[in-house]
Amino acid sequence: MAADRRPEDMKRITTPELADAFIEEQIKDLKAQIGDKKVLLALSGGVDSSVVAAMLIRAIGDQLVCVHVNHGLLRKGEPEQVIEVFRNQMKANLIYVDATDRFLDKLAGVTDPETKRKIIGGEFIEVFAEEARKLDGIEFLAQGTIWPDILESEAGIKAHHNAGGLPEDMKFELVEPVKILFKDEVRVVGERLGLPANMVYRQPFPGPGLGVRCPGAITRDRLEAVRESDAILREEFAKNGLEGKVWQYFTVVPDFKSTGVRDGKRTFDWPCIIRAINTTDVMEVTVEHLSDELIDHLVTRIIKEVPGINRVLFDYTPKPPATVEYE
Ligand code: XMP
Repeated sequence: MAADRRPEDMKRITTPELADAFIEEQIKDLKAQIGDKKVLLALSGGVDSSVVAAMLIRAIGDQLVCVHVNHGLLRKGEPEQVIEVFRNQMKANLIYVDATDRFLDKLAGVTDPETKRKIIGGEFIEVFAEEARKLDGIEFLAQGTIWPDILESEAGIKAHHNAGGLPEDMKFELVEPVKILFKDEVRVVGERLGLPANMVYRQPFPGPGLGVRCPGAITRDRLEAVRESDAILREEFAKNGLEGKVWQYFTVVPDFKSTGVRDGKRTFDWPCIIRAINTTDVMEVTVEHLSDELIDHLVTRIIKEVPGINRVLFDYTPKPPATVEYE
């Protein structure tokens, strides 16, 4: 039977060989636990849920049902990558739900950050539960719980967001195949399971997604400006060897406008703020200083390619006093 807790003497999984041994043992345990029953997984495309999906596809194939909820706040190309990797390449049983309109309609006019978070979290559970209700014979719910989640919830630092939230009548047995792993181990295991490097080594991305990078009331046009500028920033970081080196980097488009000029005409558009930070524990972060050339190039691309932006700013503030995200 799979270990419920990380054994004290467990060797850190740092090599392909150790990852392969872990995968082999997990698959044996998963087969024994699940038998011929069906498993449901909310697949966000983040590292943990992706690795859990890949592991379960190996172990039980199409007894796994993955649900990918697109809340409209994902980064450019993310839903497409989830479909390409899991449905097309790994032949997963994947239900894709484009719930963009539902989320954005509920969020319309909502300015308070915590209310926005609650709406996004609550709506997510609702969409997921609706999909689950359409399915027959699901007995298990798979989750990408990892070892730090368990340690942090035991220490009372944060409630680990497991089955929590699903309606009372939906009771599933949990399947948590990476729960004794640290994040770096999950990445090594994911690579050995054939997931693309840009999926397993991706930077942290908050659950409320681009919603917290579109401060105040989210509008579709400003959200699109966040998504497009973020895509440019990620592309340039990758080209300049900064992907995988800088801990987290993104853009924010605040809800105010300033005067500019383009083609001899007055403009009144948003600024785009670039944030790039390094940290080990996210309690304290330092700012990654970019070269003048890169900054100039980012400014040129963003003002040229992103509609609605007429100014680009760089955030030089460490945490504390600033937080990483803007809300
Ligand atoms: P802050 O802004 O608190 O962010 O300094 C610290 C780290 O946590 C991420 N973050 C979140 N992740 N849900 C998440 O899953 C959230 O609501 C959330 N808020 C912040 C943030 O991206 C950073 O890595």
